[in-house]
Amino acid sequence: MTEPITSSATLQQKTSRLRCIGCGVVSHTASQNFRCEECGDLLEIYYPGWSGVGAAELSLHELRKLWLSRRMSSWPEDQSGVWRFRELLPSLKGGFSCITLREGNTPLYELPGCARIAGVNQLFAKHQGLNPTGSFKDTGMTTAASFARQEGFRWVACASTGNTSASMAAYASRGGMRSLVLIPEGKISWGKLSQALDYGAVTCQLQTDFDGCMRVLNEVVQRMPVYLLNSVNPYRLEGQKTAAIELLEQLHWTVPDHIIVPGGNLGNSSAIGKALLELCDLGLISRLPKLSIIQAAGANPLVRMIRSGATQLEAMRAETFATAIRIGNPASWKKAMRVLQETGGTAEEATEVEIAEAKAQIGADGIGCEPASAVTLVGARKLVRQGFIKRGEHVVLILTGHLLKDPEFTLKFHRGELFSGSPHELPAGSLAAQQRAPVVLEANADAVIKILEAAERQPTN
Ligand code: F0G
Repeated sequence: MTEPITSSATLQQKTSRLRCIGCGVVSHTASQNFRCEECGDLLEIYYPGWSGVGAAELSLHELRKLWLSRRMSSWPEDQSGVWRFRELLPSLKGGFSCITLREGNTPLYELPGCARIAGVNQLFAKHQGLNPTGSFKDTGMTTAASFARQEGFRWVACASTGNTSASMAAYASRGGMRSLVLIPEGKISWGKLSQALDYGAVTCQLQTDFDGCMRVLNEVVQRMPVYLLNSVNPYRLEGQKTAAIELLEQLHWTVPDHIIVPGGNLGNSSAIGKALLELCDLGLISRLPKLSIIQAAGANPLVRMIRSGATQLEAMRAETFATAIRIGNPASWKKAMRVLQETGGTAEEATEVEIAEAKAQIGADGIGCEPASAVTLVGARKLVRQGFIKRGEHVVLILTGHLLKDPEFTLKFHRGELFSGSPHELPAGSLAAQQRAPVVLEANADAVIKILEAAERQPTN
């Protein structure tokens, strides 16, 4: 290996500070639960050195060139699609390296079939499900786990609907730390649970939902020297920010009109919004895309809050087959509201049947994703119908998890069993056109050719 690629002529990694989003108090260190010790609100990372940094000093052109050039480097920190943007991240102390699985650097795809369904000329998807453990969580875990190790923690922990736990377990093991996972019993996909087990986590299935797991974990971290790796940890959001930076790079710094993100605990939407605001402040982009958040209709506390005009989020009992976003009391709602307001975005919801249908439609474009990611297509379609998105506008969906995270959902959907016995059974009748159940046949060519000929007569997307 050679050396990591640095440049003296551009923005150096700046000092970062923790600041409370409520009362604005600034601190160097965080408490165990990453809440402000004065008012209990969430913390965010900010970079005092950036104020007054003008476009000229930054040498934007050089910075962009530097980030791209790192993709050719063999240095792990450069190969990571997160750390190659390290000028915009908090820096580790000298002597500490990052824990990386070469996360980020995910593709941006055009989805022609889904564009027709949504009612726009062109639709793009940034597929964060193509990260090392199959979800966007890896981009935040590389930063937060690296800081956990720097702080000397032996144990890291999270409450999770599955993806955070899979990612945390992997990064903890890579970094020589142990991990504790709290998940809701029976409400997480086998794919995600099996990842946590294989990556060596101590896994507790609690008889509660995600919000209940979060409550228990908050007590555990107060009583034990365990580092909290949920998205209330602001180092997670710094890593997750890079999805937006990379997206802009992939678009040659042309700003899309809309970015659409699924919402659960609302950390990811906050992170992507933070990146957009920072890029705009630094002059790396000249205007802001509208960032919109889509929740499952059965787990929609943010949508309810906005529709009712309330100023506080009211927790609810969440229920959705899209288990990744089955969250009724999202921790980062204030951060998410701020980015909706500052970017001019909105929030929408997707019903169970709409989610299942959209997932199959994204699959039919040859991409595939897990159910929670598919809410973005539903949201895009609804926002086009409402006139919030115009047909000719440039729209990017953020797909957050890999199709193989939840194969049970997919199989049940195609076999027509997903909604059996549920209140969604009747509306699900409309899904037949999307369903492609496997056919069991005698092992002879005639039988197969008959199926082939019948399929040939069916319309394709
Ligand atoms: N999509 C997927 C695939 C997720 O796993 C999650 C969250 C989200 C979207 C929502 O992101 O919470 O930042 O708003 N999963 C968490 C977990 C809660 O524990 O894996 P968010």
